Amino acid sequence: MMNPYTASLFFNQDALADFEKQIRVFKYKRQKVFVLLDDHTRHYCWPLIRSYFIEIQNDTILIEIPHGEENKNLDQLHSIWKQLTKADAGRDAVLINLGGGVITDLGGFAAASYKRGITTIHFPTTLLAMADAALGGKTGIDFDGYKNHIGVFYQPLKVYVLTDFLKTLPERQWKSGLGELIKYGFLTMKGLKPLENFSFSVNQQLQKAIIEAAQFKLNVVAEDPTEIGMRKILNFGHTIGHAFESFAMSKRQTLMHGEAVAAGIAAELYLSVRLKGLKINVLEDYVSFYHRHFEPFKIVTSDITTLLDIISHDKKNRGRELLMVCIESNKKPVFDVTVEPEQLRECLIWYSELF
Ligand SMILES: NC(=O)c1ccc[n+]([C@@H]2O[C@H](COP(=O)([O-])OP(=O)(O)OC[C@H]3O[C@@H](n4cnc5c(N)ncnc54)[C@H](O)[C@@H]3O)[C@@H](O)[C@H]2O)c1
Repeated sequence: MMNPYTASLFFNQDALADFEKQIRVFKYKRQKVFVLLDDHTRHYCWPLIRSYFIEIQNDTILIEIPHGEENKNLDQLHSIWKQLTKADAGRDAVLINLGGGVITDLGGFAAASYKRGITTIHFPTTLLAMADAALGGKTGIDFDGYKNHIGVFYQPLKVYVLTDFLKTLPERQWKSGLGELIKYGFLTMKGLKPLENFSFSVNQQLQKAIIEAAQFKLNVVAEDPTEIGMRKILNFGHTIGHAFESFAMSKRQTLMHGEAVAAGIAAELYLSVRLKGLKINVLEDYVSFYHRHFEPFKIVTSDITTLLDIISHDKKNRGRELLMVCIESNKKPVFDVTVEPEQLRECLIWYSELF
């Protein structure tokens, strides 16, 4: 049976051809179309697709918010609801999200909640959003200091990936996306092969890596849409990665989500070697790749107790049991691997001595 999620994912020329047809449908049905974007994506990305809206320009309304994670919040959600209401958006309105993961998460949630759900379409514009955030239907906002605290699962009608958007992406954002692409390399059992010549530029190898990551994610999501089993493997690198991210935030250091994931992957590969017999050379190769492409995230021994505390509160744990995703000796990913606090401490000591 056809996977409905992968069937709604389009790349480059196919995306533009399908979008052209989609615009004609909106025109025929006289639907109002709203485009959510931030100041950066309005400047860099909107000009690349604006011409497609000419036919429906009288029924197209832009909603702009300021860029950045700090705007994935209730105030901006409120402002989107207000603008939809003021423009008389009915249940047949369409919300197109043009941006990175902040825009697709926030816009997805606005669409899911407005009048009990209107049609939404994503145009991801960052590497991270193309390979991961725009896919799978997780939407939401940060609340009271907690990331992604309020949200729902809501699937977009279509996801259009146009890799030309990446040409204006700042280097730090490329690195953040690279973290998630590495994750998919391990989950698809190819390791670092899809990223051998990664060079922060749009080329065929990169496009292939994005397509493979996106399709893999959507196949997993189709099997387990609400993360009760298999979908948990998508958290590889994220348990320790999230702890690094929160820790960096508490120290006011900037560490992008995907950069934290890339560092978390090093630590979780170490656990895979210790607990699941993964070959040590996989870990060694990864550490050298990480060194080549990232400014290493450094920790010292005195940080370890705080990090252990953060990890013990991870929402993926079962009660007091620490659960993680590991890679087995045959390269297969496994979820719900129990990790003892002492093993985790040993892993963080190893990590602190790396750089
Ligand atoms: N829903 C999910 O499954 C999922 C998965 C992973 C991450 N996320 C979420 O995604 C968010 C992070 O997404 P992100 O890394 O894309 O960040 P982002 O949306 O904040 O975008 C990063 C920055 O790049 C700018 N930008 C976007 N596209 C650009 C382009 N083409 N050229 C120039 N600048 C551009 C943005 O304006 C912003 O300043 C987080 O909130 C995270 O929680 C969601």
